[in-house]
Amino acid sequence: MPPAFPLQPDVIPPRSGSIVILTGAGISKESGLETFRDAGGIWSQVRLEDVATPEAFARDPVRVHAFYNMRRARHRTMDIKPNAAHHAVVKLQQAWPGGVTVVTQNVDTLHDEAGTKDLIHMHGTYAQARCNFCDAVVPRLGDLSVTDICASCGKDKGMRPNVVWFGEMPLHMERITAALRDCALFISIGTSGSVYPAAGFVTMVKRSADAHTVELNLEPSQGATLFAEAHYGPATQIVPAYVESLLQSL
Ligand code: APR
Repeated sequence: MPPAFPLQPDVIPPRSGSIVILTGAGISKESGLETFRDAGGIWSQVRLEDVATPEAFARDPVRVHAFYNMRRARHRTMDIKPNAAHHAVVKLQQAWPGGVTVVTQNVDTLHDEAGTKDLIHMHGTYAQARCNFCDAVVPRLGDLSVTDICASCGKDKGMRPNVVWFGEMPLHMERITAALRDCALFISIGTSGSVYPAAGFVTMVKRSADAHTVELNLEPSQGATLFAEAHYGPATQIVPAYVESLLQSL
């Protein structure tokens, strides 16, 4: 049984208030995808400088493609499915009168597969390819390689995963900033709070929207003290429990 969280009446956002949910790799962990910074995580197996920067792609595109091809293939072949936390987010979205925007740092497609609406992939997704020359974006479920030719501009060597690498600007920041500015509740799920700008969202909402802020994570994140409320445990338990407590408040 997931834990039950008694909500304080004064921290329940008004029915009309909108919610912004930020998610990170921790929400997908129990679906079978690795996080980055936990023990044994992706950045302990490979150096991010070798696979997740524009310089790495310019230096050794074959290696960068191999890294994302492996992650894409793992998702496809290992029966990776959305878990109870992804589904709870959808349940909240369907029932919450004020609207729920989901901003994910994850390049996987589990929120999409769960049926999440109003979903912003701020770091892009490995299920798409983008041409470095003309910026055309196309769906990509199979492997990418340096010999792929862009269907829009006809050039080769430019097709890359449509993900945001270190040193690049996250996507859709205007839309995200507007949602943060207006929200009554900000919920951060499964992120270590190590990467900006996402790590700064909690401070932004407190400054501009005076919103209530909640962290749902396996353990306190780097920014844990910035949140007004926190619940710690596996996402498949604490996210459905928190969503239930919010819905009961309606
Ligand atoms: N349930 C909830 N939280 C979990 C679980 C779980 N089952 N397992 C791990 N976590 C938590 C960890 O405690 C950690 O705080 O998820 C967090 C994952 O942190 P990171 O690995 O740093 O992932 P994330 O915060 O998404 O990384 C941000 O860094 O490398 C980049 O671009 C990459 O989008 C990524 C960004």
